[in-house]
Amino acid sequence: MAAAGKTTEVRAPSPEDGHAAPSPSLSKRQQKKLLKQQKWEEERDLRKQRRKERKQLRRQERQHLQDEDQADHHHARKRFRREATPSSLRLVVDCSFDSLMLAKDVQKLHKQIQRCYAENRRAAHPVQFYLTSMGGQLQQSMDEKDGGWVNWKDIRIQTEHYSEVIGKEDLVYLTSDSPNVLKELDHNKAYVIGGLVDHNHHKGITFEKAKELGIEHAQLPLSAFVRMNSRKVLAVNHVFEIILAFLEKSSWQDAFFTVLPQRKGAVALNPAGDEKNQDKDQEFSSDSEPDTKSLESSENVS
Ligand SMILES: C[S@@+](CC[C@H](N)C(=O)[O-])C[C@H]1O[C@@H](n2cnc3c(N)ncnc32)[C@H](O)[C@@H]1O
Repeated sequence: MAAAGKTTEVRAPSPEDGHAAPSPSLSKRQQKKLLKQQKWEEERDLRKQRRKERKQLRRQERQHLQDEDQADHHHARKRFRREATPSSLRLVVDCSFDSLMLAKDVQKLHKQIQRCYAENRRAAHPVQFYLTSMGGQLQQSMDEKDGGWVNWKDIRIQTEHYSEVIGKEDLVYLTSDSPNVLKELDHNKAYVIGGLVDHNHHKGITFEKAKELGIEHAQLPLSAFVRMNSRKVLAVNHVFEIILAFLEKSSWQDAFFTVLPQRKGAVALNPAGDEKNQDKDQEFSSDSEPDTKSLESSENVS
């Protein structure tokens, strides 16, 4: 009887097996090796096929996990949306400066408005969002680059000037040139943001318009919380997002530092007005393009 685990007999490969008959001069060990090699060669296609199947299976598993993740994320967003408590505060982007802008700046304004829309849709306390004096180059850009804007929800888009849509007594123009500093937000008011990307070419234009119309005006209380190198002029979406953040956090300091990118020179001031952060060489850009990484297309923001 052969010892367990030991093979004592090797049948010589024959042409019937499909194997070339090994030369009789080969030793048993060499014959075994040759057979093994032939088998390995023959099974090459089979191994390839199995590898392919395993890869496909892994891909399917990954896809399945991704689909599950996406579904969870979608449901979380839906839950969040349902839990949002809308604010009665009205926030207007005044698009009446269209003819003062170059096409490239209109495109920046378009992106800033998209950003405002997306942020409002996911805010804890979404505002009553108005776009007034809609038309001209801005509408053209929106039609060409994002036709989905016509399906935007929870926003009033009007061709009329804001003063024809909202009573003057309710209007407060937000403008960095106003001597009045905003302390609180009045939920019965409509705050207006100038829809303008002007690289400081039209300094004071919104302040002048507000005075002409005889409506209230105010600047954000930036100086109390943030050191600014030059004028405290922010981009439309930054002002919009600061208002949303204030509605959520009830703190200007938190609102500014949630929204204003530190890389753009946000320097916190402590209550005594001293700087907390030493990065003094930058300033906010009023005409920046919003970070569109998280920007969802109008159709996707459900
Ligand atoms: C890029 S700025 C336009 C600057 C323009 N030269 C002007 O006179 O308003 C866009 C808009 O954001 C709002 N804004 C910017 N900085 C602000 C600040 N510090 N306080 C209040 N509103 C501000 C204003 O409504 C402004 O019209």
